[in-house]
Amino acid sequence: MDVSNAITIRRSAEDFIDEPISIDDLATILFLGLGITGWTQAYGLDKYPLRAYPSAGALQPIEAYPVIHNVTGLREGLYHYDPFNHALEILRLGRFNSLMADLALGQDHVSRASAVVILTAFYSRTRWKYWKRALRYVLIDAGAVMENMYIAATVGGLGVRAVGAFYDEELCRFLGIDCIEEFPVLLMLIGKEARGF
Ligand SMILES: Cc1cc2nc3c(=O)[nH]c(=O)nc-3n(C[C@H](O)[C@H](O)[C@H](O)COP(=O)(O)O)c2cc1C
Repeated sequence: MDVSNAITIRRSAEDFIDEPISIDDLATILFLGLGITGWTQAYGLDKYPLRAYPSAGALQPIEAYPVIHNVTGLREGLYHYDPFNHALEILRLGRFNSLMADLALGQDHVSRASAVVILTAFYSRTRWKYWKRALRYVLIDAGAVMENMYIAATVGGLGVRAVGAFYDEELCRFLGIDCIEEFPVLLMLIGKEARGF
């Protein structure tokens, strides 16, 4: 699929069917969303990473926490994406799909996604350099990751939907983050789309 086709047919999935996606599908979406795609010299380092998304000052404040519900090759639970190793770190195993829907103000379709990738902004990573402009920059960075994930899922034939409505404090508690230095920005629902008849 070429880029104009992918952008034109991109839509947010209304709902998801109860079928797993593969670990490779998820890996591809994470890599194309926010993976390390290059290296440069910066900030006194000979080997400084560059990402699939453009980032103010190349400071890369966006973190991804996949909540796995139905992905072949992965146990259900909360994970963290490690871009350096292109790997998932287990944070907590368990079935969290109805909790995720509750955290998203009771939006039912959240519970039916095969994976919910929570995107957070590590605000302090950008703030030390940009101060008053940092908030807008981290949100723009997150938007770029969101669109990368939309396009990657679309090209891969998967359903995807961004969800911005959630209870901040409760979601931060679930993630074990402070909601100040690091706060959640978006939930990215991924799965096989339920198509109407
Ligand atoms: C910042 C943001 C927040 C959103 N929040 C929600 C949400 O809470 N629940 C939901 O079902 N969809 C949400 N969406 C998806 C939008 O409803 C969807 O993008 C919009 O209806 C346009 O449809 P399209 O993406 O298919 O073009 C959100 C999208 C964005 C970009």
